[in-house]
Amino acid sequence: MEELIDRAKQVLENNFQDRGFTIPSKGLYPFQWKWDSGFIALGYAHYDVKKAKKEIQTLLDAQWDNGFIPHIVFHNDSDTYFPGPDFHLSHLHPQSSKKFRSTGMTQPPVTGFVLELMHEIVGDEMLDFVKKYIDKIYDNHVYFYENRDVNQDGLVYIYHNWESGTDNSPIWDDIWETMNPPEYTFERRDTTHVDPAQRPSKREYDHYLHIIEIAKAHNYDDAKIAAHSPFLVLDPLFNAILIRSNESLIRLYELLGNNEDKIKYLKEKQEKSIQSMNAKLFNESLGAYVHYDLRNNAQIPYVCSSSFAPLFGGIPDASRAEVLKNTMQLKFGGDNKYLCASFDPTNDRFNPRKYWRGPVWINMNWMIYHGLLRYNFHEMAEQIRKDSLELISKFGFYEYFDCRKDNPDTENSGYGGNNFSWSAALFIDMLSSAKN
Ligand code: SER
Repeated sequence: MEELIDRAKQVLENNFQDRGFTIPSKGLYPFQWKWDSGFIALGYAHYDVKKAKKEIQTLLDAQWDNGFIPHIVFHNDSDTYFPGPDFHLSHLHPQSSKKFRSTGMTQPPVTGFVLELMHEIVGDEMLDFVKKYIDKIYDNHVYFYENRDVNQDGLVYIYHNWESGTDNSPIWDDIWETMNPPEYTFERRDTTHVDPAQRPSKREYDHYLHIIEIAKAHNYDDAKIAAHSPFLVLDPLFNAILIRSNESLIRLYELLGNNEDKIKYLKEKQEKSIQSMNAKLFNESLGAYVHYDLRNNAQIPYVCSSSFAPLFGGIPDASRAEVLKNTMQLKFGGDNKYLCASFDPTNDRFNPRKYWRGPVWINMNWMIYHGLLRYNFHEMAEQIRKDSLELISKFGFYEYFDCRKDNPDTENSGYGGNNFSWSAALFIDMLSSAKN
């Protein structure tokens, strides 16, 4: 394992950029991504505190005046990725960063819980950093509640599949059916780095681009997007992460003292969010949390790895948590599968090789691992941790992995980008949590 830890550090070292951030993977993802940065900082926190701080600081430097943190920050130019800054045109929003070009969409709000875990890993040496940056993360949460909580029930919307992080999940298929975007002409770059069988289709990209065109036509105005975007979803993963990050901000503010107003605001939101999540996003017959389509006012009834994220946010009560664990075991578990496929392996839409339509992702496993521990499901937690370490040890620091132990398609079940930063960073973190 020592050798693998050295290799994980080497992956991060090679992906670190002079401007103070770490790309997820060479060629395929040549900029700074929001949720990647959070997971990457957790890895660094174990052995290079300076880089851990730098990663978060660089991300927060690109925050907009309204508290928004973009999903990609284009610190540099690169012709290896599409769509780049000239497509996204973040300056259309009047409060966008004047310093950095970015996308006009966001990604799951991991930064709050990352800040708390950095403090936990490093200790009080981190307190000055926490003090300096916590308000920026708080402002980001206020941004969500004040601009994206359309029903005032504590649940915030996403307007693009890229905001969910689970880009081409089959969850979105029914939404694509409601749209008929133009056939755009553009040059894909991702498929020059990765086998197209492991990436979204051209027609899916037409949909992705079309939603951005609509948002751009409204200068990325949140209220107008809420009124006009064909994609408007309550995502259990995104909301569970926001809730988990709220919890961290509350604890950190309590530790720092003198922040009663902010604690009160977060606690109020927290209570409402947890209540609404349980009332609106749980599907009794599936035994899991599901997405909710705000355009059609209906649940999207499929189970995917995001369905288990509420464990990480402490959202279900003990009996509902038991139901979730059983659903995971029944549909995603068993002797011939690694935990945890990104989409229900018993469903027709499952594809074991195609990005978020089935493969195992290390960041999801990391969150589900902590979620299971939180509810004292030690055996299953240990299984998901072991599976994650085994996949990386056997196949390498890939972006995603085939969940089939007896994969008939190939010898190497690692897919997508290789030398992928968060797989390396969370490998380091998961190994160290074994020692505790
Ligand atoms: N991961 C996305 C892509 O494939 C963007 O967030 O480009």
